[in-house]
Amino acid sequence: MQMIFALIVVHILRGVLAQDELSLAFPDGFSIGAGTSAYQIEGAWNVSDKAENVWDYLLHKCPSLSNNNDTGDIACDSYHKYKEDVQIAKNMGLHHYRFSISWSRVLPTGTPDIISKDGIQYYKNLIDELLKNGIEPFVTLHHFDDLQLLVNKTGGWANESMVEYFAEYSRVMFRELGPKVKFWSTFNEVNIFCKWFAYLNETTPDTAYRASYLCAHNVLKAHARAYHIYDEEFRSIQHGQIGLIISSAYYIPKTAGDTESTDIAFDFNTAWVMNPVYSKKGGYPEVMKQRIAENSRAEGLVSSRLPEFSDKWINYIQGTADYLGLNHYITTLVEPVKKSNGRWYDDAGVIFSNDPSWKLTAIGWGVVPESMSALLRKISKDYNNPPVYILENGASEIADFMDIDRIAYLYSYMKEVLMAKRDGCDVRAYTVWSFLDNYEWFNGYAQTFGLIHVDFKDPNRKRTPKLSSHWLKIILSEGKLLPYKENLLEDYGNELEKTIEALD
Ligand SMILES: *[C@@H]1O[C@H](CO)[C@@H](O)[C@H](O)[C@H]1NC(C)=O
Ligand SMILES: *[C@@H]1O[C@H](CO)[C@@H](O)[C@H](O)[C@H]1NC(C)=O
Ligand SMILES: *[C@@H]1O[C@H](CO)[C@@H](O)[C@H](O)[C@H]1NC(C)=O
Ligand SMILES: *[C@@H]1O[C@H](CO)[C@@H](O)[C@H](O)[C@H]1NC(C)=O
Ligand SMILES: *[C@@H]1O[C@H](CO)[C@@H](O)[C@H](O)[C@H]1NC(C)=O
Repeated sequence: MQMIFALIVVHILRGVLAQDELSLAFPDGFSIGAGTSAYQIEGAWNVSDKAENVWDYLLHKCPSLSNNNDTGDIACDSYHKYKEDVQIAKNMGLHHYRFSISWSRVLPTGTPDIISKDGIQYYKNLIDELLKNGIEPFVTLHHFDDLQLLVNKTGGWANESMVEYFAEYSRVMFRELGPKVKFWSTFNEVNIFCKWFAYLNETTPDTAYRASYLCAHNVLKAHARAYHIYDEEFRSIQHGQIGLIISSAYYIPKTAGDTESTDIAFDFNTAWVMNPVYSKKGGYPEVMKQRIAENSRAEGLVSSRLPEFSDKWINYIQGTADYLGLNHYITTLVEPVKKSNGRWYDDAGVIFSNDPSWKLTAIGWGVVPESMSALLRKISKDYNNPPVYILENGASEIADFMDIDRIAYLYSYMKEVLMAKRDGCDVRAYTVWSFLDNYEWFNGYAQTFGLIHVDFKDPNRKRTPKLSSHWLKIILSEGKLLPYKENLLEDYGNELEKTIEALD
């Protein structure tokens, strides 16, 4: 009897395991790739007629803003080495490769008055090289790198005139590159861009918050303009899709059950830019409108520093996406902060912390893979199950080649993506950030997210595949997610030699 019972248990377990293994197969059409962005990898900041972008200007003027005074002047030199990059991507078996266009490289005055022949040609060459090697280009129009000239002229994204500059730029890109690009993203991480990168020099809370709200307001308008231009002038001929990329943390209550705080955190950080485009109703979340209005009143302002959309703009922006682009890295605990002097702390009234039990990546972000599926389920539930393309996820790890922690990270996060998909979330792609070690903004070259190591001391910027890229290659060729195994190291040694030979 016991024997039979044990056999039944084993049988059930096997069934569970087989099913689990089965569910780790990559579904048909599910696209797996890796990502980069222009300023972070291209270098060639001053070639041909390229104009200065905000990073060129800022880091040349105040080098010490960046760790070790690092800049993207040369970065990975992908401007000159794109063919090698594409060969590496092909060798890994990537389905798609995500990159961004440098506005200052293609339109040196910011407007279509001058279209840089060399700038456009660079991206045409890159796209052709990718297609020739069977890799789909995923193209982002704006990844944190505005033209300095436009910022001088307008003051930046708090000025509504940026909307039309962007609209004109996007039209030129659709016309020039659209015949071969089927996957467009307008802005990378609107929320992070406006909160952290667009107004680095604003220090008082009113000007800093006001600027970031106005920035997102105008970026959302610019996104919608680009979407409508694509829809009306290009879609019927080019048949691509276009969406917006939003970064979202996953929020966990510090006190069990405090979902009010986690909802507020999500609303202020994600729904802020997600609702206007992806919710049925459009516009900003109610709690943002309320709390920002309260703080503004308490500070004696005559109106809320959160701008309002007219009904016309609400309708114009709502629904302007064929998919939702999602970047996910961070999990954080949330707790409420009581009002003091009639004001909500930080406009939102919540603060964040790490759980001490979390393992952290090199950049200090908790490794909590279940957040990935929880976030996907939340988006599916709150936004009517939109097609989601994960366009960034990954870990910084200080290890030159033997990045075993990165493999464990990617495995556990990808597994959660597949679980969410199994549960009905319409997730269609997963993109590792990043393809190459690169200029990681103010962290300089000290934070390394790459699948591929780049030697920044070598004038040639020698690329060397890390163990994780070898693992990714194996799972892509197997068509299913597999955990790290010891024998990977042996294969990797041989593979490494071959790759290095091929590159030399
Ligand atoms: C471009 O910048 C590099 C430094 O990054 C400098 O060495 C080079 O002379 C500059 N080239 C031109 C044409 O200005
Ligand atoms: C930032 O502000 C300070 C003080 O107003 C100014 O000296 C500095 O030049 C500004 N930096 C940039 C890059 O604009
Ligand atoms: C960074 O640049 C500043 C000047 O802006 C200089 O004083 C400092 O020594 C530099 N630091 C490094 C690590 O090169
Ligand atoms: C932007 O303005 C700054 C400060 O006036 C100036 O030094 C810089 O040359 C200007 N840059 C461009 C590209 O116009
Ligand atoms: C907004 O930008 C335009 C140029 O497009 C400029 O004329 C105007 O002065 C700017 N407004 C503000 C408030 O800076």
